[in-house]
Amino acid sequence: MNEPQQAYQWHSPMLSSASHDVPQLLARLQAQLARWGLQAQDLGPDDSNRVWLYRKIMPDPALPAVLVAAGFHGEEPAGPWGLLHFLEQQDPVLQRQVNLSLLPAVNLAGLGLGTRFNQHGENPNRGYQERYGHTPSREGVVLLQHGDVLQQLARNGILTCHEDVLLSQAYLYSFEREPQHAALSAQLRQALGRHLPLIVDGIVDDCQVNNGVIKNHADSSFESWLFDAGAELAYCTETPGQAEFDVRIRAVAEVIQVFLQQVAGARGLG
Ligand code: NI
Repeated sequence: MNEPQQAYQWHSPMLSSASHDVPQLLARLQAQLARWGLQAQDLGPDDSNRVWLYRKIMPDPALPAVLVAAGFHGEEPAGPWGLLHFLEQQDPVLQRQVNLSLLPAVNLAGLGLGTRFNQHGENPNRGYQERYGHTPSREGVVLLQHGDVLQQLARNGILTCHEDVLLSQAYLYSFEREPQHAALSAQLRQALGRHLPLIVDGIVDDCQVNNGVIKNHADSSFESWLFDAGAELAYCTETPGQAEFDVRIRAVAEVIQVFLQQVAGARGLG
């Protein structure tokens, strides 16, 4: 793990933006809302730490509810920019198969600075479960306050898009209740592998990686909390900060697409 307040910034020739250009990111995300049938909800807490939730305007109760979240750590910008690239490039027809909600950039203060934690040195991906003893960040507090809503929006699947700034290979965390769900993590691993080299086997952050996947690693992270709270599936991808920024952006965009297609197609599996 890197130093929490060290700044990392990249440039994306593909998206014509710097990774820390938060005003451009938010403007381009906003421009996609109507096309995707989404509305923006301001969760707070204030101007310098603001969490946006994008929710489907007319959710169909018959469709699976899935949440894609990115930007918990500010030095992991391919999450939010990859999500933007997905929204800008893909046909919103996918919204007819799922009820898609988004937390497009949870730690906007950190993203603007290029630092892992927010400007108060708080980790927005810790503290979601009291038993681990971590104090939630300002962003985490508002997400916890909206916990009931988020659990509903993520009930059939949650994907969070992280990066590991020190690595040059990708991997993912998977939380799956049923053995037959392993096909889904394999699909996500393959999507990452089409763009980036994968960690096949090894130890990362004290976790065993098998064939690119860390299975059912419980901690006080956002996705671990939602899985504990009943989400059918949870995934967390880790793209490598040592790879080219545009490659990471494309990898994240494809992972999101594969995730949504798989969850839509996997209904009734479990
Ligand atoms: Ni992270």
